[in-house]
Amino acid sequence: MQRGVHVREMFAAIAPRYDAANKVLTAGVDETWRRRAVRALAAPPGGAILDLCTGTGDLAFHLLRTDPSFRVTGVDFCEPMLAAARARAVREDREGHAAFLEADVMALPFEDRAFDGATMGFSMRNVVDIGATLREIRRVLRPGARFVNLDVSKAQNRLVKRAFDLYFYRIVPLVGGLVGGSRAAYSYLPQSLTNYPDAAGLAGRFSDAGFVDIKAIPLALGSIAIHVGTAP
Ligand SMILES: C[S@@+](CC[C@H](N)C(=O)[O-])C[C@H]1O[C@@H](n2cnc3c(N)ncnc32)[C@H](O)[C@@H]1O
Repeated sequence: MQRGVHVREMFAAIAPRYDAANKVLTAGVDETWRRRAVRALAAPPGGAILDLCTGTGDLAFHLLRTDPSFRVTGVDFCEPMLAAARARAVREDREGHAAFLEADVMALPFEDRAFDGATMGFSMRNVVDIGATLREIRRVLRPGARFVNLDVSKAQNRLVKRAFDLYFYRIVPLVGGLVGGSRAAYSYLPQSLTNYPDAAGLAGRFSDAGFVDIKAIPLALGSIAIHVGTAP
Protein backbone atom coordinates (compact mmCIF):
# COMPACT_ATOMS: atom_id res chain seq x y z
CA MET A 1 0.00 0.00 0.00
CA GLN A 2 1.20 3.55 -0.73
CA ARG A 3 2.80 4.97 2.44
CA GLY A 4 0.58 8.08 2.61
CA VAL A 5 -2.59 5.96 2.38
CA HIS A 6 -1.28 3.61 5.06
CA VAL A 7 -0.50 6.55 7.39
CA ARG A 8 -3.97 8.03 6.84
CA GLU A 9 -5.74 4.74 7.57
CA MET A 10 -3.64 4.16 10.64
CA PHE A 11 -4.57 7.56 12.10
CA ALA A 12 -8.22 6.98 11.21
CA ALA A 13 -8.08 3.82 13.35
CA ILE A 14 -6.71 5.59 16.42
CA ALA A 15 -8.54 8.95 16.03
CA PRO A 16 -11.34 8.32 18.60
CA ARG A 17 -8.87 7.65 21.44
CA TYR A 18 -5.87 9.64 20.21
CA ASP A 19 -6.04 12.42 22.86
CA ALA A 20 -6.48 9.98 25.75
CA ALA A 21 -3.59 7.79 24.57
CA ASN A 22 -1.35 10.85 24.14
CA LYS A 23 -1.94 11.99 27.71
CA VAL A 24 -1.15 8.53 29.09
CA LEU A 25 1.93 8.03 26.89
CA THR A 26 3.51 11.39 27.77
CA ALA A 27 2.07 11.63 31.32
CA GLY A 28 0.78 15.05 30.25
CA VAL A 29 4.29 16.47 29.79
CA ASP A 30 3.50 17.11 26.12
CA GLU A 31 1.48 20.13 27.34
CA THR A 32 4.72 21.82 28.47
CA TRP A 33 6.45 21.04 25.15
CA ARG A 34 3.47 22.34 23.20
CA ARG A 35 3.42 25.61 25.20
CA ARG A 36 7.14 26.00 24.51
CA ALA A 37 6.57 25.45 20.77
CA VAL A 38 3.81 28.05 20.65
CA ARG A 39 6.06 30.58 22.48
CA ALA A 40 8.80 29.96 19.91
CA LEU A 41 6.41 30.95 17.11
CA ALA A 42 6.30 34.59 18.28
CA ALA A 43 3.52 35.41 15.81
CA PRO A 44 1.87 38.87 15.71
CA PRO A 45 -1.50 39.40 17.48
CA GLY A 46 -4.38 38.67 15.12
CA GLY A 47 -2.04 36.65 12.90
CA ALA A 48 -3.18 33.91 10.53
CA ILE A 49 -1.54 30.71 11.74
CA LEU A 50 -1.42 27.37 9.97
CA ASP A 51 -1.28 24.20 12.10
CA LEU A 52 -0.09 21.41 9.83
CA CYS A 53 -1.02 17.76 10.44
CA THR A 54 -3.33 19.19 13.09
CA GLY A 55 -4.86 15.84 14.05
CA THR A 56 -7.37 16.46 16.83
CA GLY A 57 -6.27 20.12 16.90
CA ASP A 58 -4.25 19.95 20.11
CA LEU A 59 -1.63 22.48 18.99
CA ALA A 60 -4.29 24.61 17.28
CA PHE A 61 -6.18 25.00 20.59
CA HIS A 62 -2.90 25.72 22.39
CA LEU A 63 -2.32 28.54 19.92
CA LEU A 64 -5.75 30.00 20.70
CA ARG A 65 -5.28 29.68 24.46
CA THR A 66 -1.97 31.56 24.13
CA ASP A 67 -3.42 34.31 21.96
CA PRO A 68 -7.20 34.25 21.40
CA SER A 69 -6.77 36.87 18.66
CA PHE A 70 -5.03 34.36 16.33
CA ARG A 71 -7.00 32.91 13.42
CA VAL A 72 -5.92 29.30 13.16
CA THR A 73 -6.31 26.98 10.19
CA GLY A 74 -5.73 23.31 11.01
CA VAL A 75 -4.94 21.03 8.09
CA ASP A 76 -4.86 17.23 8.05
CA PHE A 77 -5.51 14.52 5.47
CA CYS A 78 -7.34 12.20 7.89
CA GLU A 79 -11.03 13.06 8.13
CA PRO A 80 -11.71 11.15 11.41
CA MET A 81 -8.94 13.17 13.10
CA LEU A 82 -10.49 16.39 11.76
CA ALA A 83 -13.91 15.28 13.02
CA ALA A 84 -12.39 15.00 16.51
CA ALA A 85 -10.86 18.49 16.11
CA ARG A 86 -14.21 19.99 15.07
CA ALA A 87 -15.91 18.31 18.04
CA ARG A 88 -13.29 19.84 20.35
CA ALA A 89 -13.81 23.25 18.72
CA VAL A 90 -17.40 23.32 20.00
CA ARG A 91 -16.01 23.41 23.55
CA GLU A 92 -12.57 24.98 23.09
CA ASP A 93 -13.15 27.61 20.39
CA ARG A 94 -16.40 29.38 21.19
CA GLU A 95 -15.25 32.49 19.29
CA GLY A 96 -14.92 30.49 16.07
CA HIS A 97 -11.28 31.44 15.45
CA ALA A 98 -10.25 27.97 14.25
CA ALA A 99 -11.13 26.22 10.98
CA PHE A 100 -10.23 22.64 10.13
CA LEU A 101 -9.62 21.59 6.56
CA GLU A 102 -8.81 18.32 4.80
CA ALA A 103 -5.60 18.61 2.74
CA ASP A 104 -2.23 17.01 2.20
CA VAL A 105 0.57 19.11 3.66
CA MET A 106 2.72 18.37 0.61
CA ALA A 107 0.19 20.22 -1.60
CA LEU A 108 -1.41 23.00 0.43
CA PRO A 109 -4.51 24.70 -1.03
CA PHE A 110 -3.32 28.23 -0.10
CA GLU A 111 -1.82 31.23 -1.88
CA ASP A 112 1.85 32.05 -1.51
CA ARG A 113 2.67 34.06 1.66
CA ALA A 114 -0.83 33.61 3.13
CA PHE A 115 0.23 32.94 6.76
CA ASP A 116 1.97 34.79 9.61
CA GLY A 117 3.25 31.57 11.19
CA ALA A 118 2.99 27.80 11.02
CA THR A 119 3.27 24.93 13.49
CA MET A 120 3.50 21.16 13.26
CA GLY A 121 3.30 18.79 16.22
CA PHE A 122 4.59 15.20 16.31
CA SER A 123 4.02 14.67 12.60
CA MET A 124 7.09 15.43 10.47
CA ARG A 125 8.18 11.79 10.94
CA ASN A 126 4.99 10.70 9.23
CA VAL A 127 5.08 12.75 6.04
CA VAL A 128 6.23 10.90 2.95
CA ASP A 129 8.63 13.62 1.74
CA ILE A 130 10.10 15.98 4.37
CA GLY A 131 11.82 18.22 1.78
CA ALA A 132 8.63 18.71 -0.26
CA THR A 133 6.66 19.43 2.94
CA LEU A 134 9.15 22.04 4.16
CA ARG A 135 9.26 23.78 0.78
CA GLU A 136 5.47 23.91 0.72
CA ILE A 137 5.35 25.39 4.24
CA ARG A 138 7.90 28.05 3.30
CA ARG A 139 5.86 28.93 0.20
CA VAL A 140 2.73 29.78 2.24
CA LEU A 141 4.58 31.88 4.87
CA ARG A 142 5.03 35.60 4.48
CA PRO A 143 8.66 36.81 4.67
CA GLY A 144 9.76 36.96 8.32
CA ALA A 145 7.14 34.44 9.51
CA ARG A 146 8.29 31.40 11.47
CA PHE A 147 7.66 27.70 11.16
CA VAL A 148 7.91 25.74 14.44
CA ASN A 149 8.19 21.97 14.35
CA LEU A 150 7.82 19.90 17.55
CA ASP A 151 8.62 16.21 17.35
CA VAL A 152 10.51 13.34 18.93
CA SER A 153 14.20 13.33 18.08
CA LYS A 154 17.36 11.29 18.55
CA ALA A 155 19.23 12.09 21.78
CA GLN A 156 23.01 12.37 21.35
CA ASN A 157 23.76 10.82 24.76
CA ARG A 158 23.87 7.02 24.29
CA LEU A 159 22.29 6.19 27.65
CA VAL A 160 19.44 8.66 27.14
CA LYS A 161 18.89 7.31 23.62
CA ARG A 162 18.79 3.71 24.86
CA ALA A 163 16.30 4.56 27.60
CA PHE A 164 14.12 6.51 25.17
CA ASP A 165 14.30 3.74 22.52
CA LEU A 166 13.23 1.19 25.12
CA TYR A 167 10.24 3.38 25.97
CA PHE A 168 9.40 4.28 22.37
CA TYR A 169 9.90 0.92 20.67
CA ARG A 170 8.61 -1.37 23.47
CA ILE A 171 6.31 0.49 25.84
CA VAL A 172 4.51 2.79 23.38
CA PRO A 173 3.16 -0.13 21.24
CA LEU A 174 2.01 -1.93 24.39
CA VAL A 175 0.34 1.00 26.16
CA GLY A 176 -0.83 2.56 22.87
CA GLY A 177 -2.46 -0.74 21.97
CA LEU A 178 -4.31 -0.87 25.29
CA VAL A 179 -5.35 2.79 25.57
CA GLY A 180 -5.29 3.86 21.92
CA GLY A 181 -7.12 0.86 20.52
CA SER A 182 -4.64 -0.30 17.85
CA ARG A 183 -1.39 -2.05 18.68
CA ALA A 184 -0.50 -2.13 14.96
CA ALA A 185 -0.73 1.66 14.70
CA TYR A 186 1.28 2.24 17.87
CA SER A 187 3.90 -0.21 16.59
CA TYR A 188 4.21 1.78 13.35
CA LEU A 189 4.68 5.12 15.17
CA PRO A 190 8.06 4.23 16.70
CA GLN A 191 9.25 2.85 13.34
CA SER A 192 8.64 6.30 11.87
CA LEU A 193 11.58 7.55 13.97
CA THR A 194 14.04 5.05 12.51
CA ASN A 195 14.57 6.85 9.19
CA TYR A 196 13.96 10.34 10.59
CA PRO A 197 16.95 12.72 10.68
CA ASP A 198 18.51 13.69 14.02
CA ALA A 199 18.20 17.29 15.24
CA ALA A 200 21.19 18.57 13.21
CA GLY A 201 20.01 16.66 10.15
CA LEU A 202 16.53 18.14 10.37
CA ALA A 203 18.00 21.65 10.75
CA GLY A 204 19.88 20.96 7.52
CA ARG A 205 16.62 19.99 5.81
CA PHE A 206 15.11 23.33 6.94
CA SER A 207 18.06 25.10 5.36
CA ASP A 208 17.78 23.07 2.12
CA ALA A 209 14.12 24.13 1.92
CA GLY A 210 15.12 27.81 2.09
CA PHE A 211 14.42 28.65 5.76
CA VAL A 212 16.81 31.03 7.53
CA ASP A 213 17.64 31.75 11.23
CA ILE A 214 17.22 28.06 12.02
CA LYS A 215 17.30 26.98 15.65
CA ALA A 216 17.02 23.51 17.18
CA ILE A 217 15.89 23.50 20.82
CA PRO A 218 16.39 20.17 22.63
CA LEU A 219 13.79 19.09 25.21
CA ALA A 220 13.69 15.98 27.42
CA LEU A 221 17.48 15.55 27.17
CA GLY A 222 17.29 15.67 23.36
CA SER A 223 14.59 13.01 22.96
CA ILE A 224 12.24 15.77 21.83
CA ALA A 225 13.19 18.79 19.69
CA ILE A 226 11.66 22.05 18.60
CA HIS A 227 12.97 23.35 15.28
CA VAL A 228 12.35 26.95 14.30
CA GLY A 229 12.91 28.36 10.83
CA THR A 230 12.07 31.76 9.37
CA ALA A 231 10.78 32.31 5.84
CA PRO A 232 13.12 34.70 3.97
C1 LIG B 1 0.80 11.95 15.47
S1 LIG B 1 -0.53 12.87 14.74
C2 LIG B 1 -0.20 14.46 15.38
C3 LIG B 1 -1.44 15.31 15.55
C4 LIG B 1 -1.25 16.67 16.21
N1 LIG B 1 -0.42 17.55 15.40
C5 LIG B 1 -0.69 16.58 17.61
O1 LIG B 1 0.28 17.28 17.90
O2 LIG B 1 -1.24 15.85 18.43
C6 LIG B 1 -0.02 12.98 13.04
C7 LIG B 1 -1.07 13.57 12.11
O3 LIG B 1 -0.44 13.85 10.84
C8 LIG B 1 -1.39 13.63 9.83
N2 LIG B 1 -0.65 13.52 8.55
C9 LIG B 1 0.38 12.72 8.25
N3 LIG B 1 0.81 12.94 7.00
C10 LIG B 1 0.04 13.95 6.50
C11 LIG B 1 0.01 14.63 5.26
N4 LIG B 1 0.86 14.34 4.28
N5 LIG B 1 -0.91 15.61 5.08
C12 LIG B 1 -1.78 15.92 6.07
N6 LIG B 1 -1.81 15.30 7.27
C13 LIG B 1 -0.91 14.32 7.48
C14 LIG B 1 -2.11 12.37 10.29
O4 LIG B 1 -3.36 12.20 9.66
C15 LIG B 1 -2.23 12.63 11.80
O5 LIG B 1 -3.44 13.25 12.13
